[in-house]
Amino acid sequence: MDRKKKLLIVSHAPSPNTLTLRNAVAQGAGHEDIENVEVTVLAPLDAGPDDVLACDAIILGTTENLGYMSGALKDFFDRSYYPCLEKTQGLPFAYYIRAGHDGTGTQRAIESITTGLRWKVVQEPLLCRGEYRDEFEEQCCELGMYVAASLDAGLF
Ligand SMILES: Cc1cc2nc3c(=O)[nH]c(=O)nc-3n(C[C@H](O)[C@H](O)[C@H](O)COP(=O)(O)O)c2cc1C
Repeated sequence: MDRKKKLLIVSHAPSPNTLTLRNAVAQGAGHEDIENVEVTVLAPLDAGPDDVLACDAIILGTTENLGYMSGALKDFFDRSYYPCLEKTQGLPFAYYIRAGHDGTGTQRAIESITTGLRWKVVQEPLLCRGEYRDEFEEQCCELGMYVAASLDAGLF
């Protein structure tokens, strides 16, 4: 039997709301109907190039802080960029941003770095913007489910 495909979730979750969102992504990705995908959830400071090299798709999550992605996610990219550059081109990825009021600076930054890496975005960025709403949780769950189900179905 083929080995399970690996979905890596690298998400910064410094608050109860963002932890809820990260868990929702993982919950969606771990849906019981998705059989051949192994999901790993890591905080950015615990993740590095070896994790990226071992995965088949990646979901990134971050807060927007001071108009940019979290320092933790940036640090993950700083450590992973060159070790991955030649080896992960075309890696399917998606991302979500939790932003108190904007999110566009973070979106631009993630687009720029992942364009450099030549990763392949497989879903519109999910921007959870403004005052926290319960629907963010549902959207994050759907994001995780979509990526994992697509990976399972061999669509990437
Ligand atoms: C130091 C700091 C800087 C922030 N800067 C931004 C920002 O530039 N843009 C934005 O949309 N939200 C900003 N926020 C809000 C955070 O994105 C938001 O608090 C975070 O995503 C956590 O969400 P929560 O409050 O729902 O837990 C900032 C928050 C802090 C603490």
